[in-house]
Amino acid sequence: MNEISNETRFLHALEMGLGAWQWGDRTVWGYQPGKSDKDIHEAFEISLKKGIRFIDTAELYGNGRSERFLGQFLRETDRPVLIATKFFPWPWRFTKGSMPRTLKGSLERIGVDSVDLYQIHWPSPLVPPERMMEGLVECVKLGLTRTVGVSNFWEKRMLRAYSALAQHGVPLASNQLPFSLLKRDAEKNGILARCKELGIRFIAYSPLEKGLLTGKYSVDNPPPGVRAANYIEMLPKLPPVIQALREVAQNNGKTVAQAALNWVICKGAMPIPGAKDAEQAEENAGGAGWRMSDEEVARLDEATERIRNYGGKGA
Ligand SMILES: NC(=O)c1ccc[n+]([C@@H]2O[C@H](COP(=O)([O-])OP(=O)(O)OC[C@H]3O[C@@H](n4cnc5c(N)ncnc54)[C@H](OP(=O)(O)O)[C@@H]3O)[C@@H](O)[C@H]2O)c1
Repeated sequence: MNEISNETRFLHALEMGLGAWQWGDRTVWGYQPGKSDKDIHEAFEISLKKGIRFIDTAELYGNGRSERFLGQFLRETDRPVLIATKFFPWPWRFTKGSMPRTLKGSLERIGVDSVDLYQIHWPSPLVPPERMMEGLVECVKLGLTRTVGVSNFWEKRMLRAYSALAQHGVPLASNQLPFSLLKRDAEKNGILARCKELGIRFIAYSPLEKGLLTGKYSVDNPPPGVRAANYIEMLPKLPPVIQALREVAQNNGKTVAQAALNWVICKGAMPIPGAKDAEQAEENAGGAGWRMSDEEVARLDEATERIRNYGGKGA
């Protein structure tokens, strides 16, 4: 394994974070203005109380609402919070200056002078990784972010990003990719191992497979909205996975969701589950702070072996 740089060490010390896509997003998560605000504030509060310090947001989430909520919540807490947000590479944002300019917009919405991690949300078909990295380096130089990362960059692109940053003496702090018991591509295609080898923190998004790995959804009770269509083929395959999770959870005095999150941690990735209210956030926080046995990891691996490659591989 490459030596982890001092700048990025804090990320490797974190077991879990909290995803904030739900804060203000109506299309996938059914956020309701006014009605959901108290619930998401409580989700934030209880997460901090339970030791979660890293919040993952993006300018895209709720068209900036998620970042604004984070700013509002930060003003009402004394607890230290690590902030990660993301740049979306719209086709008109191709110059080196686009990134610092966009990040300044995020900083204004959050109400801070700098963030802890600035990530490129998706690769761009128009702008090569090397050019994008120049923008990130600029953000570091201007002191707008402590570290930089990428998201949805699979191995080839990630390595190009890593090398381009290295030429400027900036470490690639993280790569955020989909990873859960139902989406194990990152483990199978080697990028998870590659991240560990290079000291890049692997951040696992949708670690509960958008709620499926909590055990509450089934063929008879599908998730609401757009998720129902996305998971139509997956739902019939779910019962043996939930059964295996239930066994592991019971052995450890935990819940199904906590076992699903702990499996991600045992694989060496940092899950950032999203939570809509205090109850979900509190349960999810209990996915960290313990380890299932190697045999239990193997039992869950086996239960999901044939489900590999479900969903897209990303870019
Ligand atoms: N970089 C990217 O491209 C990208 C893409 C996706 C996500 N992300 C990040 O990753 C974070 C997490 O991923 P995600 O939100 O897609 O999926 P997730 O964490 O797998 O699932 C979150 C959803 O599952 C349900 N849930 C969560 N905890 C629960 C519990 N304890 N009991 C019952 N239900 C529970 C809630 O929805 P319901 O109650 O409605 O079921 C919640 O909104 C996001 O918030 C975002 O920060 C990044």
